[in-house]
Amino acid sequence: MSIQHHAPDELGHDYLEIRGLTVDFDGFKAVDGVDLTLLQGRLHFLIGPNGAGKTTLVDAVTGLVAGTGLARYRNQDLLGMRSHRIVRAGIGRTFQTATVFEELTVLQNLDIAGGIHRRAWAMALARRGVPAYVEQALEAIGLQDLRDRPAGVLAHGQKQWLEIGMLLVQDAKVMLLDEPVAGMSAEEREETGELLRRIGYERTIVVIEHDMEFVRRFADVVTVMHAGTVLAEGSVSEIQADPRVQEVYLGRQLDAVADDEGAAEVEAQVQAEVEATVEEGGRRA
Ligand SMILES: Nc1ncnc2c1ncn2[C@@H]1O[C@H](COP(=O)(O)OP(=O)(O)OP(=O)(O)O)[C@@H](O)[C@H]1O
Ligand SMILES: [Mg+2]
Repeated sequence: MSIQHHAPDELGHDYLEIRGLTVDFDGFKAVDGVDLTLLQGRLHFLIGPNGAGKTTLVDAVTGLVAGTGLARYRNQDLLGMRSHRIVRAGIGRTFQTATVFEELTVLQNLDIAGGIHRRAWAMALARRGVPAYVEQALEAIGLQDLRDRPAGVLAHGQKQWLEIGMLLVQDAKVMLLDEPVAGMSAEEREETGELLRRIGYERTIVVIEHDMEFVRRFADVVTVMHAGTVLAEGSVSEIQADPRVQEVYLGRQLDAVADDEGAAEVEAQVQAEVEATVEEGGRRA
């Protein structure tokens, strides 16, 4: 059931290691002792019902809320660091609602994100050029032709891509994306998945998502959170077959029917309902 935790150094891969992460809001533990190993080169999905603690986990790792435990990346514990230093350490995130500056152009948005490289960028602008890493980001997100348009005119999906572009410009090695495909068309989702695959090869990417179709299509590893804890981890088919995951999504105890003759049948039915429920959650979000 649980995925194999390779010793990441042996593979020569980067990784973000989270151990015993806890976020306590006045006695309510929104994140409660979470262990996660997030390896470079794998698309890691974080799913779970509303209120499971997914966003709070990302908030803790990016310094927006205080957490205890360990969140180590390249020998630095992120939990003790201020957000701007966490960004400089190579950790980037997006939010559930897009945060691009609508009045500014695509290029200007990337400029702001590139603030941590400010000096190089300003020098390049003085030469009336655009730095190579900004060009590369524009190309990766496919918005070259829209570079001088205000971000406000972009389609919903394109704004999310711009946000991902902003993380590329920041040179984020770890990207924590909070429901990036919510509200996207099927086509936009597909393009986003392809984009994440392309850039994910040399990065550690974590995607929070409700839409099981998207998860099924692109996830290498899925972690299911519930009530602040990790409930299950594995491949898509493993977590879908896990009765504990099914219980959480349906709020019913399979134990109660475990001895019944029709248990297997009920279980199959429950699994179909789980998928429908999860997909509905995605549309609501
Ligand atoms: N600043 C806060 N103070 C108190 N409680 C909070 C705070 N932020 C979040 N919570 C609570 O923590 C729990 C986890 O919230 P969180 O936003 O992390 O869930 P989520 O898994 O991202 O859910 P969703 O799928 O709806 O986005 C919820 O019960 C939420 O109400
Ligand atoms: Mg959330």
